[in-house]
Amino acid sequence: MILLLGASGYIGQAFAHELERRGWPFVGLARREADYTRFDLLLEYLRAKQPELVINAAGYTGKPNVDACEAAWADTLLGNTLLPQTVAHACAALGIPWGHVSSGCIYSGAKVTVGGQTRAEKDLTRPELRALVEKSPASIHGYTEADEPNFSFRRPPCSFYSGTKALAEEAIAGIGRSYIWRLRIPFDELDGARNYLSKVQRYAKVYDNVNSISHRGDYARACLDLWERRAAFGIYNITNPGFVTTRQVVGLIEKILKPGRWFEFWSGDEEFYRTGARVPRSNCVMDVSKLLAAGVKIRPIDEALETSLRNWKPES
Ligand SMILES: NC(=O)c1ccc[n+]([C@@H]2O[C@H](COP(=O)([O-])OP(=O)(O)OC[C@H]3O[C@@H](n4cnc5c(N)ncnc54)[C@H](OP(=O)(O)O)[C@@H]3O)[C@@H](O)[C@H]2O)c1
Repeated sequence: MILLLGASGYIGQAFAHELERRGWPFVGLARREADYTRFDLLLEYLRAKQPELVINAAGYTGKPNVDACEAAWADTLLGNTLLPQTVAHACAALGIPWGHVSSGCIYSGAKVTVGGQTRAEKDLTRPELRALVEKSPASIHGYTEADEPNFSFRRPPCSFYSGTKALAEEAIAGIGRSYIWRLRIPFDELDGARNYLSKVQRYAKVYDNVNSISHRGDYARACLDLWERRAAFGIYNITNPGFVTTRQVVGLIEKILKPGRWFEFWSGDEEFYRTGARVPRSNCVMDVSKLLAAGVKIRPIDEALETSLRNWKPES
């Protein structure tokens, strides 16, 4: 059986759904049943149950957004860095492979090719870069798994949340056999407070930037596909291939859902960070060549977005 930590969470539910769909036996464990954040209890549990794979979908995200993590440093560090380190050591002690839900939010910007030269650009809102995004998308490349995170405690500025996610990847590197599955801005067809497509519709003002994003179900499927194919352990970026601007997402919402309202945007970073957000946000483009080279199929971003909006299920 597969052991799923954090099964009650937004991403844990997607794994549970996909495991059920495949008919793969699994146990979803909650902290109130057995506190898996404690090394001794987790080790005892693993020794007794002997799962073939452990999935760590637990963590501390901050609600309603990462600003909340700034007022909860201890919980954020415990949930996002110390917990994966605990899982890594417990699994390594028993030789159990495991997968960790990491995040693409440890990067900022994209790699940009201009005049034959490629360089990392952390801020794609700069007008000349924004023009490239619109007119020459082929010159924008995502960060690969080999690129060092550039939105982290080592490469500030970053949010405390992103810092703890990047630190976790360092903390578990080289311990046992693990997948690091990087998710980015989850969305799907189910309206709700955690869905990016719902958030965009509920913001008083929308923040425009450029991002790769992950359909929640596609993400869980891709993670399990990697395991099923026995792909090499290591880091995988798992987003729907491509990138979108928030304005393009709003355009699709207007076209497909026809909300009959006007979307107002922040005038720019200066206004957004003065009034709309406390800490820097990660906005970035991810490269998924490694995932695709492993033989995993995942829909392009335009298709995943359009299908989600066409099958939209409003919250009652
Ligand atoms: N949602 C996103 O936008 C997003 C994007 C990229 C990456 N991620 C990553 O995905 C993972 C899951 O996120 P999520 O959005 O599913 O979060 P969530 O809905 O808040 O669920 C997280 C679950 O983790 C468990 N947990 C264990 N230790 C915790 C702690 N110290 N504080 C809070 N919860 C703790 C809880 O389950 P029990 O108490 O029932 O065991 C909780 O239900 C996290 O590692 C997050 O960094 C999320």
